[in-house]
Amino acid sequence: MSGNNVGPLLAIESSCDETAVAILSTDGQIIAEHVLSQFADHAPFGGVVPEIAARAHLSHLPALVKHALAEAGLTVGDLAAVAATTGPGLIGGLLVGAGFGKGLALAAGKPFIAVNHLEGHALTARLPGLVQDGLAFPYLLLLLSGGHCQCVAVEGVGRYRRLGGTIDDAVGEAFDKVAKLLGLPLPGGPGIERLAAHGDAKAFAFPRPLSGRAGCDFSFSGLKTAVAQAVGALPPGAIDQKTAADIAASFQAAVVDVLMDRASQALKALPEATALVVAGGVAANQAIRTGLQSLAARRDIPLVAPPLRYCGDNAVMIGWAALERLHAGLAEDGLDQRPQPRWPLTALALPVPENVSAAE
Ligand code: KG4
Ligand code: ZN
Repeated sequence: MSGNNVGPLLAIESSCDETAVAILSTDGQIIAEHVLSQFADHAPFGGVVPEIAARAHLSHLPALVKHALAEAGLTVGDLAAVAATTGPGLIGGLLVGAGFGKGLALAAGKPFIAVNHLEGHALTARLPGLVQDGLAFPYLLLLLSGGHCQCVAVEGVGRYRRLGGTIDDAVGEAFDKVAKLLGLPLPGGPGIERLAAHGDAKAFAFPRPLSGRAGCDFSFSGLKTAVAQAVGALPPGAIDQKTAADIAASFQAAVVDVLMDRASQALKALPEATALVVAGGVAANQAIRTGLQSLAARRDIPLVAPPLRYCGDNAVMIGWAALERLHAGLAEDGLDQRPQPRWPLTALALPVPENVSAAE
């Protein structure tokens, strides 16, 4: 498969609790896109239930694909290729999305491109129109989501070097756990951010785990425990709106400080970075963006953050990663690629130049 035979491409994302479909033109213009959140399906259980997620993907995908094709005025026969996330993620959802995509590709006689979900997040910042004249490699990616929290040197398509990652919770997970402690619905990040806007960030002195330490690893479980202890120390029923807002603001300020410290360390490890890129659902947080913006400005590089709708899980990023691979001559026919619940960016089977470390 080469980049020359690329026409409109259909992409599917189903690795967690968003069923998403997108159609992109060869040059990455978005022709149609849909994201269907399964939020209501999982809300009664207080978290994503893998079995429910898989069944929901199965029932929503056919209609979403039909809808996107109709909106684009295309039939399956007009597509040049079908791409789908094949990992990492919840295996049930991956099997549904990849199985559906493979079936469609086989029936239409089109190539199937297996896409790594993290590569989708990593390359979103290169979507056409996002950065004037395009974003050049290498850049530092801060991937902040509910399941992932890592600093990655993005040195080319398929060339990723993990500089650090969380040793316990992902940052989005910490937002979700603190939201639960404060009685907010999931996903917790948006609720914490709204609440924090009315709170005093200095009211509670929460820890900044690993700050000032060498390396670029993250840790959030101690911060979450400190919030739990603060909540537990309050007299029963004492979490009024003001106290809750103060806890949210103090927690969020601690997260911002930690992220700035860790990103600063990572930038030292990648001095040639053209930009600091933040991606993943947590990248929607304005306080985090502002903190990272000031860090990037100090280093005289831009902070690149995708528009909010591309921060969380979506299929545009999957389609774009497939196109990047096609254009780089790196897309293989993925019909025989099995969905992988665990599939680190650094495991992408690609040639690594001799002077680049491929260590995880
Ligand atoms: O990337 P994503 O949509 O899904 C994966 O985890 O792959 O990220 C979801 C995470 C959740 O933990 C959610 O609470 C968090 O992103 N999130 C936020 C905000 N919006 C979503 N965290 C902080 N502030 C936000 N505004
Ligand atoms: Zn994600």
